[in-house]
Amino acid sequence: MMTNDLEYVLFPEDKIEQRIAELSSEIVRDYQGKNLVLVGILKGGIIFLSDLTRRIPIPHSYDIVGASSYGDGITSSGHVIITKDVEIPLKDRDVLLIEDIYDTGTTLKVVKDLLLVHGPRSLEICALLWKEKKNRRYDIPIRYIGFSVPDVFVVGYGLDYNEKYRNLRCIGVLKKEFYS
Ligand code: IMP
Ligand code: MG
Repeated sequence: MMTNDLEYVLFPEDKIEQRIAELSSEIVRDYQGKNLVLVGILKGGIIFLSDLTRRIPIPHSYDIVGASSYGDGITSSGHVIITKDVEIPLKDRDVLLIEDIYDTGTTLKVVKDLLLVHGPRSLEICALLWKEKKNRRYDIPIRYIGFSVPDVFVVGYGLDYNEKYRNLRCIGVLKKEFYS
């Protein structure tokens, strides 16, 4: 079992589901009558995007951008490479960027700047996790936050360690022995 690799579980499946339902209600309330597009970030944000979009019963589109921050597995390198742009026009649309985790903020900064070039009417961010860090590289306003997490390395629900554990249904902290 993959869950045996976890030191402890931070958010079990039902807690994540419940929080996504709450976030969706807020989004539906705020985006009534607007021209909403959800934009997910590969690869970690995709699981969150797919659960969120199905919880938002107002007309909207979704699209995907690819961003990669090559690091050593547990630390962000600070260099983000865009591997894929959006495909649908964002001009005059209300874009909500969907990300798995706000860590150093580098990915969100780079992707946000990319999306702004497309000329959306509005651009907000929804991050499932918000890491409690003392010094962050980029301070970026996050409109919707799922949960706060301590400054530790977490996996599951889209988040990986060397491309593993994305398919875990919960979010947890990996045992030290698995990343040394
Ligand atoms: P950034 O440092 O905010 O640019 O985060 C870059 C990316 O690193 C995020 O989109 C995640 O995919 C990944 N990341 C950051 N923190 C963690 C973590 O605790 N576990 C797994 N992936 C993480
Ligand atoms: Mg990763």
